[in-house]
Amino acid sequence: MLDMHKDIERVLYTEEQIAQRVAEMGKQITQDYQEPLLVVSVLSGAAIFMADLVRRIELPVEMDYMAVSSYKNGVKSSGVVQILKDTASSIEGRHVIIAEDILDTGLTLSYLIENLKSRRPASIEVATLLHKQVEQKAKVDCRYVGFECPNEFIVGYGLDYAEKYRNLPYIGILKRSIYGQSI
Ligand code: IMP
Ligand code: MG
Repeated sequence: MLDMHKDIERVLYTEEQIAQRVAEMGKQITQDYQEPLLVVSVLSGAAIFMADLVRRIELPVEMDYMAVSSYKNGVKSSGVVQILKDTASSIEGRHVIIAEDILDTGLTLSYLIENLKSRRPASIEVATLLHKQVEQKAKVDCRYVGFECPNEFIVGYGLDYAEKYRNLPYIGILKRSIYGQSI
């Protein structure tokens, strides 16, 4: 019951692989911008990725957070995005990077990007750790992608199933028997 590891079918990305890829992303962002940045993460999933990513960006970085709900404890996107928590800072005139854990249908991010664009940032780009190999329902241009991952339900390193498994240090495929009926 308390052993989370036994619920994992297969490890997709180890702690080391994630750290290496996040470092590469941070280096790329540093080279591309050479300007102060505002990194906005989408809670709660992207918080861990953001924490690691900003420490690999060698530029002044401010951090801010949004919370949205599109999944209600399940595994499928409802398509309805609700802002539960908005950024604390104004994004007008700032260079903004949205840090996301995973791009699946694209519904959440496309909604967020449109919303943030209307606040007139100097620029806005997306850094997502994972990009699922599925046909996106909403087209999202991600400038920075960590890994192209298979179309499976995955958990760990911030990603949850019903708020569980976020604290696994690696990313793995969740056993179907765990979420069984809910997909
Ligand atoms: P989208 O709107 O379908 O792109 O959903 C994006 C959000 O759904 C992510 O920020 C995650 O919170 C969640 N999500 C999508 N796929 C997975 C998964 O495989 N595991 C855990 N969460 C997921
Ligand atoms: Mg989630």
